Amino acid sequence: MTPAGFDLLLRDAQLATMRDGSVPYGAVRDGAVGINGSAIAWVGRASDIPHDCPARRTLRCGGRWLTPGLVDCHTHLVYAGSRAGEFEQRLLGATYADISREGGGINATVRATRAADAALLSAQSRPRLAALAAEGVTTIEIKSGYGLDTASELKQLAVARALGEQLDVDVRTTLLAAHALPPEFSGRADAYIDYVCREMIPAVARAGAADAVDAFCETIGFTPAQTQRVFAAASALSLPVKLHADQLSDTGGAALAAAAGALSADHLEYTNAAGVAAMASAATVAVLLPGAFYALRETQLPPVAAFREQGVAMAVATDCNPGTSPATSLLLMLNMACTLFRLTPEEALAGATVRAARALGLADRGTLAAGQRADIVAWDIAEPAELAYRMGGNPNAGVIRAGRVVRWEA
Ligand code: NIG
Ligand code: FE
Repeated sequence: MTPAGFDLLLRDAQLATMRDGSVPYGAVRDGAVGINGSAIAWVGRASDIPHDCPARRTLRCGGRWLTPGLVDCHTHLVYAGSRAGEFEQRLLGATYADISREGGGINATVRATRAADAALLSAQSRPRLAALAAEGVTTIEIKSGYGLDTASELKQLAVARALGEQLDVDVRTTLLAAHALPPEFSGRADAYIDYVCREMIPAVARAGAADAVDAFCETIGFTPAQTQRVFAAASALSLPVKLHADQLSDTGGAALAAAAGALSADHLEYTNAAGVAAMASAATVAVLLPGAFYALRETQLPPVAAFREQGVAMAVATDCNPGTSPATSLLLMLNMACTLFRLTPEEALAGATVRAARALGLADRGTLAAGQRADIVAWDIAEPAELAYRMGGNPNAGVIRAGRVVRWEA
């Protein structure tokens, strides 16, 4: 059906629509996109623009490539302080697990985050979100997990949402209360999980402060049984779940996440064949985090070939966090996903658009197609593979979010 007119028409563009089909990147040369309100109304070749369809505003793209807005589907970017000292310790031979057992690691950031008021937490986190937004990220997931008590977790989640408003990015929040054992529960992990299930998850659900619930299932995190309890408490309140799974060892996390109907299982370096099969049948998205793999100098690769063979959707995210991935470039993660994990540049870009949206349970974005949210970014590149090929630099030339022009370079 032809719309009566467009609020905004983008033309003289090349489109990487990221729609599945026979053409790589779902590409359309000499393309155009018509937008009405906050949604895409029409996508096609410029020569097919309906003649009787006037546009109230037209932006000529000068041959630039347009892609869906980038989606960073796994971050911990709201935190206070820095862990550069641990980086130095690790270079001298300490492992991430050693540092964590000695009270550093996640708990070091918990101390700094608890001590910061919302204004300080926001001021310290803002440049990280600004950097990602400047690269064309229009939707981002931000986890809590550095508060580990109800008030501090709510503070983190509120700061995350407020930053999204301020910087024009759609923020999806995830409660990661089961991230580490806070010092006041030392030696009492089950009691902490009781508190998470009986108090924190219900309080956060009542406040409507989180869109999902996550946990860290690991020898230095929580056991599969404790993770299951967190998932049960979340599901009882209709909150979708996701999981930090099999990052440092094979705990059966991927299969556990799939059995709970998780939106995604993330990291997955140590995921076994049964885990891959379970994810395939549950349509759980595999979120690959090459920044953490790189920073921890991990050598065990996630089972990418098996994901591909079994049709498990693969997303790519920054994991922006102070310990294992102090990364604020999603484009660099695309490069690392190709170089370290052997994704194709097309898989990597799908991983930061349509697959990442699915990892957040969002079907309304991630491709350039009629009916999708008009989250569109423009790039100064000659071909879409350049987005994964470059190491550094930012070819972003414009951002449209929900149909509104946020930035546009003439
Ligand atoms: O995704 N693995 C657990 N959580 C984070 C690290 C958090 C931290 O070290 O502060 C991760 O790698
Ligand atoms: Fe993480």
